[in-house]
Amino acid sequence: MLIHRIRYFPRSSWSGLNVSDGLQGRNTNSNIPLSYRNVRNNVTVAAHTGYPSNHWHLRPLSLRKQVKHFELLNSTSGLKCLSTYSDAYHKSLTKPDEFWGEAADHLEWFKRWNQVLDNDDQPFTKWFVGGEMNICHNAIDRHVNDGHGEQVAIIHDSPVTDRIEKLTFNDLKDEVSRFSRVLVDQGIQKGDIVLIYMPMVPQAVVAMLATARLGAIHSLVFGGFASKELSVRINHCKPKVIVSANVGIEPSRTVNYKGLLDAAIEMSDHKPKTCIIHNRTGYPEADMVKGRDLQWSSAVSDAKPHDCVPVGAMDPLYILYTSGTTGLPKAPVRPSAGYAVVLYWTMKNIYGMEPGEVWWAASDLGWVVGHSYICYAPLLHRNTTVLYEGKPVGTPDPGAFFRVIQDHNVTSMFTAPTALRAIRKEDFDGNHSKSYSFPNFKNLFVAGEICDHETLHWCRETFKVPVIDHWWQTETGWAITATCLGLGDEATARDQSIGKPVPGWDVHVLDSDNGQEVSRGQLGNIAVKLPLPPGSFSSLWQQGDRFVTTYFQKFPGYYDTMDAGIHHPDDFISINARVDDVINVAGHRISASAVEEAMVNQGDIVECATIGLKDSLKGHVPVGLCVLRSGVTKSEDQIVKEVIHCVRDSIGPVAAFKSAVVVSKLPRTRSGKISRQTVAAMANGEEFKIPPTIEDPTAYSEVREALQKAGIIS
Ligand code: COA
Ligand code: AMP
Repeated sequence: MLIHRIRYFPRSSWSGLNVSDGLQGRNTNSNIPLSYRNVRNNVTVAAHTGYPSNHWHLRPLSLRKQVKHFELLNSTSGLKCLSTYSDAYHKSLTKPDEFWGEAADHLEWFKRWNQVLDNDDQPFTKWFVGGEMNICHNAIDRHVNDGHGEQVAIIHDSPVTDRIEKLTFNDLKDEVSRFSRVLVDQGIQKGDIVLIYMPMVPQAVVAMLATARLGAIHSLVFGGFASKELSVRINHCKPKVIVSANVGIEPSRTVNYKGLLDAAIEMSDHKPKTCIIHNRTGYPEADMVKGRDLQWSSAVSDAKPHDCVPVGAMDPLYILYTSGTTGLPKAPVRPSAGYAVVLYWTMKNIYGMEPGEVWWAASDLGWVVGHSYICYAPLLHRNTTVLYEGKPVGTPDPGAFFRVIQDHNVTSMFTAPTALRAIRKEDFDGNHSKSYSFPNFKNLFVAGEICDHETLHWCRETFKVPVIDHWWQTETGWAITATCLGLGDEATARDQSIGKPVPGWDVHVLDSDNGQEVSRGQLGNIAVKLPLPPGSFSSLWQQGDRFVTTYFQKFPGYYDTMDAGIHHPDDFISINARVDDVINVAGHRISASAVEEAMVNQGDIVECATIGLKDSLKGHVPVGLCVLRSGVTKSEDQIVKEVIHCVRDSIGPVAAFKSAVVVSKLPRTRSGKISRQTVAAMANGEEFKIPPTIEDPTAYSEVREALQKAGIIS
């Protein structure tokens, strides 16, 4: 099916023309006209609704020249908008070298790669082999060199301190290059680790980029983790330098970051050489350890700028710990160049953003969303990024998100459904939103956990924009499935779907018992056929074997996402649940085993289990089930209080562990395994089957009664 009639205006007459006047085409068979979408001076050729986009090849060859002009016209974003979603998807899988090679050409390289893809040692796939670049150069210096130094790069909006601060790309270059020098003065070189434990302040972004500027590796730890969890990470990645702050500000309290850090270093066998502490003005200065601690402001004051260092394409940019099935968190490693290439690509092709527009990811730098979409992607794509130090509600009210969108003229934003549920809960009628005006707001993206139908619809009505769910993981670093707005996908994806596979991701749904592909529409394990695209994790830090056995052993030739879901006949995908023992709490992964390890610290517990109970705000919350040793005389109430304290003390407030019950036994299989999933299903009122290997099935009813008695379930 070919387009056989295309009317073309000479290039000179494009100026001032609505671009959609420039081309005309019709499909001979169906008589369907070629359709356009004109998005602010930028044109995407989109497939006509319901008509497969890969049928819209512009032929005959004599028209190629005209097509070139079309591409040129879109070169403001540096991206060609000719391809539709299915063209791009097809090409990304059949000609990955060409596809990602073209994408990589939009960034600046110190040394061009000599091979785009080397898949000889799967799953240790290499991208842009032989290439050298620096992500910090591409995120900052490149824009300054191109004359955009005065554009605002970061807006720090902090309702908890009542401050708004703006940094231009010039400011950012100055801050980052001088902080790089401070790091070098402390002995940091390419490949060294800098651990960052900071609240949502611009200095955290500066520390990330300054580390990347040197080809060193950062490891950010979310502030809601307690000292014990922090010490586990310090011991594992062995940072030479740690960057932190005196305090973080939560609506209900001031978090003593420096105190938590000192306690973590005390617990840890590994000791950093230096800690650089940013003292936030208006709050008590941190106590400094002589010979180890440096004040950020004094260290930076005389520092001369340091240039970007060329970094090998597969050299690690960062390590970001995430929860797994065991107590020891997993440490995915992010390769630098492929990540830069795909993040830049996603800003236009998934999120539909144009350079210069304002983007807001309302998350925390400590999570993968923060790494990818607060820090790197918007800066790479020359978008202004909002760094929000507040909550969706209570800072000061449920109008906070609408205020930020209005005040900073946000084009599109990204958040977790939990945050939206919190706003809806407090302002069901959406009255707060009515006090603000945001005519330029285009799209609201959600990810991190399942977005329920009610919240999705409420958001569409209240934000008055498409609400687009998409799915990804710490390991992947960017979306596996989404609605690719920049590739002409319609923003009205079907409900309860996380979109379609994004170019680069060869998504399959497999039977967990035999590894065979299930039919479309059937539930199974979601897996991605190798090779994984650029930007996804390259290994687990110093645990290559664990990398292979955890993710690539169950389904040879595939990456096991550990999510269950359905690939529908119309290509949309929906997610059901995690298949491992990870509990998704407010969009964060919490390991059931890690919570259990903390519970037993209470001292009177012989065995325990943690299950994820449905929660109207946080999606799920962990609930503990404890079996006591014989002869305990303390009251059950007292024990529960102590268990809750132990979890908070060990993992931190982020676990949101607020309830537990005492039972006399747990449902164990004959091999000793506790079937957390079936217990959780029972507690959540879902259908479940008691596995035949459970030794004593009456344990289920006992757990149910205990939860009911404690008022945890009805
Ligand atoms: N430093 C220290 N403590 C922190 C913290 C940080 N950076 N972030 C959260 N905490 C603490 C909170 O103070 C709270 O402590 P508390 O038990 O003493 O009240 C605890 O951790 C749980 O925090 P949170 O999950 O934020 O719950 P909340 O009840 O304070 O707020 C929401 C509820 C819905 C507003 C909040 O969960 C939210 O905004 N979630 C969005 C999640 C998100 O962005 N996910 C990213 C994936 S896309
Ligand atoms: P994290 O690595 O912390 O970002 O968590 C990743 C996990 O969050 C995934 O494996 C899913 O279980 C879940 N998740 C992420 N995005 C979505 C989504 N859009 N819908 C449902 N679950 C999601």
